Amino acid sequence: MSTASASASDPQAAAAMLDRLNLKPGHAAVVGLQWGDEGKGKVVDLLTAGFDVVARYNGGANAGHTVCVGDKTYALHLIPSGILYPDKLNVLGNGVVVDPEQVVKEITGLREQGLKLDENFLISDRAHVVMPYHKLQDALQEAAVVKGKGGDANAIGTTGRGIGPCYADKALRSTAVRIADLLDAEHLRGQLTAVLAVKNATLAGLATYAERDFAPIDLEETLAWLAPLIEVLRPHVTDSARLLHQQIGDGKRILFEGANATLLDIDHGTYPFVTSSNCSSLGVHTGTGVAGHHVSNVIGIVKAYQTRVGGGPMPTELHDATGERIREVGREYGTTTGRPRRCGWLDLVALKYTATVSGATGLAIMLLDVLAGLDELKICTAYTIDGQTSANFPADARVLERVEPVYETLPGFANDVTQCTEFDALPTEAHGYLKFIEDFIGVPVVMVSVGPKRSQSIFR
Ligand code: GDP
Ligand code: IMO
Ligand code: MG
Repeated sequence: MSTASASASDPQAAAAMLDRLNLKPGHAAVVGLQWGDEGKGKVVDLLTAGFDVVARYNGGANAGHTVCVGDKTYALHLIPSGILYPDKLNVLGNGVVVDPEQVVKEITGLREQGLKLDENFLISDRAHVVMPYHKLQDALQEAAVVKGKGGDANAIGTTGRGIGPCYADKALRSTAVRIADLLDAEHLRGQLTAVLAVKNATLAGLATYAERDFAPIDLEETLAWLAPLIEVLRPHVTDSARLLHQQIGDGKRILFEGANATLLDIDHGTYPFVTSSNCSSLGVHTGTGVAGHHVSNVIGIVKAYQTRVGGGPMPTELHDATGERIREVGREYGTTTGRPRRCGWLDLVALKYTATVSGATGLAIMLLDVLAGLDELKICTAYTIDGQTSANFPADARVLERVEPVYETLPGFANDVTQCTEFDALPTEAHGYLKFIEDFIGVPVVMVSVGPKRSQSIFR
């Protein structure tokens, strides 16, 4: 293994990096294999050097992807994490839900920091628009469900970014707004007139039940809010599926960026405590229009331990000093909402399941440095459910809530590893930990991360 040094201006170093990652020719996806915040942003930034296009396929501003370069830290919510390279295309695919205010805020902020965001940043005309009423509906829906089910324990604990309501409207169709709808003022006025009539009726009912105040949403105010945002977005809008196919035809390489993570996938995650999109690698295809056989590499991003923000079962959660320590050393506070993340030991039952669902071809083990100094490292290899031991990940969140983790205990490593640039320089106990993961999952560890910076990356 050796250290990362690739940058946009160094194609040879980039090619060497992809070689060391043992990537097959063709396109690749970067996908979270836990409950999010595994370090996808860091890996996408690093790998972009070896690709031509970065395409986000799912989610919206619920994501928070951190990229640290030099002394700067970028917290990206909607803009793809390849944006630091001015010579690469960055695309928001049709599967993304775009909050126009948030994306314009990011465009403006990143331009102020000197980044290029013009013809290198494109938005699908088929993507759906997150409107202010979606955020309101998100909050009212959570409040109503908590009241209806009688307690906070039932709350999903969403990020409040309007994600669920926007995807719900996508499925309902008649109340949805797509990016293409924004580009025709006359059509948009008619569309929003109809949509707001339905929304105001729905939200008033929800607010009454949830005992919250509600003022009907005004059409003219909404159009006035949208108008300047649309003018910023207009030059970036394109048929992204066609663009990606042109790129593929021209022999360009695409890196697909996943938001959220496989355990939050609407179909395969810990339902109902999930988000509203297919965030596993399965979402790449519907979320961009690029078929399965094109994506020959799926890099599964895995934190060296487990975290979760929001509600839902988490078998290996720690409610003790070790959990606190992981949270403080790993700075485990949400990038999007600032909420403390729940922390615990690495769960290999869940990881085996998500690596399989997402078809991981390689694993990147992130934040290994956070575990330094712990005397022993526990790792969950099975669950006990109602007296039976099983290595299967249950489909039902109510069953997952009841499981007891079965742990193997491995020796910890005392030394700081943040300066390690070679695999061989890692402590023997860290080797043992990584090998245990690799053997259990049956997928090679292709990268280890020992700090937030690009340079703190070890490739095999
Ligand atoms: P994402 O949502 O998957 O992109 O992950 P986030 O950006 O939300 O959270 C990951 C956090 O860990 C960010 O603050 C990163 O800067 C940081 N990070 C990434 N890799 C490492 C690492 O190897 N070690 C440490 N200590 N921090 C890391
Ligand atoms: P990144 O891309 C961590 C969680 C929320 C909540 C549930 C549903 O940064 O890894 P939503 O607002 O999507 O309806 O919330 O999903 N969640 C995330 N947790 N990282 C994320 O994204 C997340 N995106 C959604 O906390 O429990
Ligand atoms: Mg995040």
